[in-house]
Amino acid sequence: MKKHVVILAAAVLVVSIMAAYAATDALVGACIYKFDDTFMTGVRNAMRAEMERQGGELEIVDSQNRQPMQNDQVDAYISKGANALIVNPVDRTAAEPLMNKAKADGLPIVFINREPYAEVMNAYDKIWYVGAKAEESGTQSGQIIVDYFKAHPEADRNKDGKIQYIMIRGEQGHQDATLRTEYSTKAIKDGGFEIVELGNDTANWDKVQATDKMKGFISAVGVDAIEAVLANNDDMALGAIEALKAEGYNLGDASKYIPVVGVDATAPALEAMSKGEMLGTVLNDADNQGIAAVKVAVVAADGGEVTEQSIGYSITDGKYIWIPYRPVTVENYKEFMK
Ligand code: BGC
Ligand code: CA
Repeated sequence: MKKHVVILAAAVLVVSIMAAYAATDALVGACIYKFDDTFMTGVRNAMRAEMERQGGELEIVDSQNRQPMQNDQVDAYISKGANALIVNPVDRTAAEPLMNKAKADGLPIVFINREPYAEVMNAYDKIWYVGAKAEESGTQSGQIIVDYFKAHPEADRNKDGKIQYIMIRGEQGHQDATLRTEYSTKAIKDGGFEIVELGNDTANWDKVQATDKMKGFISAVGVDAIEAVLANNDDMALGAIEALKAEGYNLGDASKYIPVVGVDATAPALEAMSKGEMLGTVLNDADNQGIAAVKVAVVAADGGEVTEQSIGYSITDGKYIWIPYRPVTVENYKEFMK
């Protein structure tokens, strides 16, 4: 008798677990602005892993940094009968026609990483945005510099009480580039430091371009004049570090060290931190962004209501899923290594 009760209980448990994880048969079509982007590769991997758990089908294509190509890819997904779209726009100002394509078909569309303008977000009821508040990452990266200069007064190498810095920006027009630039310097000023900008240029999120730009700054002002480097992402921070290393800096000699901060907490950045080459970064949570995007797409594709309960993430204004950033310093970087 007892045995039967146990078996019955086990059976009920199995059935309810199966119900909770009922596989979707949705086909979700995703476009990534370009595959050759370290951070977006992390998001892509998280999306795939989540769809594997969900049991549906996820197709992901490379838009090769070309908006017209991405528009065609969206058309192709619609004609093959995709049940939802996930789009990382090449150009966030070009999201409107993509929204209209989805709207014409009543298809759910989830934008990620490059935020469409509010008027586009408000023009359709089956549109969502999954991303992170760029202001937060700017503030946190500036704060890392503030903490460092408070703990290391000798970092003010020319002893003028000001921080002489280089800013390396992401792609022009990307909300993360604009806001990280603005809020990182604001945080340093709010932290009580005067700042002097020795150089400021875009390197389009790219490591190699950042090395080139940094070499240019070094030859213009001299490496000794630079007291800090702020980069809008980790790839560019690592690019700047390459240029510093070529001058004998950031190789382990404490008297030849320039604090560099990035954003993302990519594996190579955490590695550079572990070697003492890079001061800090900010976690841009690729895993949770990828998971949330797929969850929203699947729930909407299956005709469900996208709510905090159904996706497991909080939702602002019914359509924004903001994934928090976190400061990553020498004290906690190991937590983020995979
Ligand atoms: C990331 C960058 C990435 C960019 C792509 C940003 O949020 O920090 O590393 O290149 O998104 O759009
Ligand atoms: Ca100084």
